Amino acid sequence: MEQFFIFVGVLVCLAYLVKCMRFAKCIFLHFWKVSPRSFLQSMGQWAVITGAGDGIGKAYSFELAKHGLNVVLISRTVKKLQAIATEIEQTTGRSVKIVQADFTKDDIYEHIQENLKGLEIGILVNNVGMLPNLLPTYFLDTPDEIQSLIHCNMTSVIKMTQLILKQMESRRKGLILNISSGTALFPWPLYSLYAASKAFMCTFSKALQVEYRAKGIIIQVLTPYGISTPMTKHININIITKSADEFVQESLNYVTNGDENCGCLAHEILAGFLHLIPSWVFYSSACQSFLLNQYTDYLKQNIHTK
Ligand SMILES: NC(=O)c1ccc[n+]([C@@H]2O[C@H](COP(=O)([O-])OP(=O)(O)OC[C@H]3O[C@@H](n4cnc5c(N)ncnc54)[C@H](OP(=O)(O)O)[C@@H]3O)[C@@H](O)[C@H]2O)c1
Repeated sequence: MEQFFIFVGVLVCLAYLVKCMRFAKCIFLHFWKVSPRSFLQSMGQWAVITGAGDGIGKAYSFELAKHGLNVVLISRTVKKLQAIATEIEQTTGRSVKIVQADFTKDDIYEHIQENLKGLEIGILVNNVGMLPNLLPTYFLDTPDEIQSLIHCNMTSVIKMTQLILKQMESRRKGLILNISSGTALFPWPLYSLYAASKAFMCTFSKALQVEYRAKGIIIQVLTPYGISTPMTKHININIITKSADEFVQESLNYVTNGDENCGCLAHEILAGFLHLIPSWVFYSSACQSFLLNQYTDYLKQNIHTK
């Protein structure tokens, strides 16, 4: 019995040590960039970004072009994509290709494949996603967009990975960044469908990383919390809520930092605090009522409808 408790104690200590090491690595990377600037460019000539017309996807498009990659922007609204393409070409001198596609549909992938033919793709950012309710909402009260959400948040990740991973595997090089969410780290009542779709992304991504790590491919899932974008109705930026540009610049420092991270130090710390809350507290009716009332009021006071 005594040995059993010692064994359990050692396991718990080891688990905390691993957590501390991950956290320490994040802090280290926050203050000292370790991957050379040429690292992203060395993955290949082109980066493909889904949901590139605004928010986080737009920020990745600019940042990767600044790192010397040509970019393929995939999104719904051509006008927005054209404007971004012109700006990227003028400011960075990189080539830009735009592809119009609506990821709530599942018949778009041949069209995307056609447009990617012949490109040496080094980076894929599976960024597109939809959030059916920004304010905490019961499942039955959320907009009935279930199939669209499944296609946009899940099918897109699988199909885009399938299209591009093959090429990366034969070149034995590549980086896939999957933009999940902090809500994926444990079940989130009042965002149940969105959080579950993002948890799928984490599971898929981490399993895939194990399969393809030895083939030279980095697959990383990012689990950020609040970022000010159209999805979050341009919520006010503060010490926790990041701008898309800020988040993306920081997250690119961490691409070699394991198969999952929050993408920025502030969210890594927030995740650490949330993990400290016992689940019986988090899932208590008092906490859910706090989310429905005080948190909803906070969101309403801090969002902007542009
Ligand atoms: N913002 C946050 O706080 C936050 C936090 C954690 C995780 N995330 C995740 O990060 C990703 C990007 O979020 P975001 O806040 O940047 O999103 P966003 O502001 O809603 O959208 C950015 C872009 O995605 C495009 N898009 C949306 N639905 C699409 C569809 N069905 N087909 C094609 N393109 C579509 C939009 O197209 P149009 O240009 O046509 O509008 C827009 O260009 C999402 O997966 C989200 O779940 C966001």
